[in-house]
Amino acid sequence: MDHYDIALLVGSLRQASINRRLAKAMVKLAPENLRFVWITLEDLPFYNGDLEPDRPEAVTRFTRQVAGCAGVLAVTPEYNRSIPALLKNAIDWGSKPLDRAVWRDKPTLIAGTSPSPIATALGQQHLRQILAILGASVMGGECYIRFEGDDFISPEGDLANASTEAFLSDYLRRFGDFVSRLAAPDHHSAARSVRDAVAALA
Ligand code: FNR
Repeated sequence: MDHYDIALLVGSLRQASINRRLAKAMVKLAPENLRFVWITLEDLPFYNGDLEPDRPEAVTRFTRQVAGCAGVLAVTPEYNRSIPALLKNAIDWGSKPLDRAVWRDKPTLIAGTSPSPIATALGQQHLRQILAILGASVMGGECYIRFEGDDFISPEGDLANASTEAFLSDYLRRFGDFVSRLAAPDHHSAARSVRDAVAALA
């Protein structure tokens, strides 16, 4: 079966990250047409325009990896009602230079977990806003997972709760369909035809 490579970004460096556990669970529950590429963020320096003429190797590696994938899955904690600097920094590198930005039209899925009752909801709102500005195609729907104790997701990514597992499976199945629809060559020509038709009416 054909598959799509999906760049997997985790917004935490912590060894025992609960978001890494969630990412592992999502990899296990994903449909067969998605294959995940774990992308390292920890070696990216802070964005600095002075580095642009000769981008550090880690940055080139990062942008090449994301550009080479058909989609993106970002699984991230919420820090102070926003996204961690780690993830924002990676997004900033990928947004420049404008004509080679890696996020534009990229099918993207977002998810996150925290022990709080509104588990990452506000952080994800910020992330959605940033990605929309950059032209990413973020799938609709919401995936805020409240992390209910250490056994909720094992370090290997096994879920204790059947309803959470069913919810995540469905969210990922929808993403598999979303990526294949957007990757279809006729999607781009259909979008062009709509643009041409609108332009002809103007
Ligand atoms: C947090 N945490 C947190 N949780 C939340 O639900 N909303 C928030 O705004 C914040 N803010 C926040 C800021 C900072 C600097 C830290 C370190 C933590 C708690 C957070 O959800 C918890 O530490 C998670 O375990 C972090 O995710 P990882 O690293 O385990 O994936």
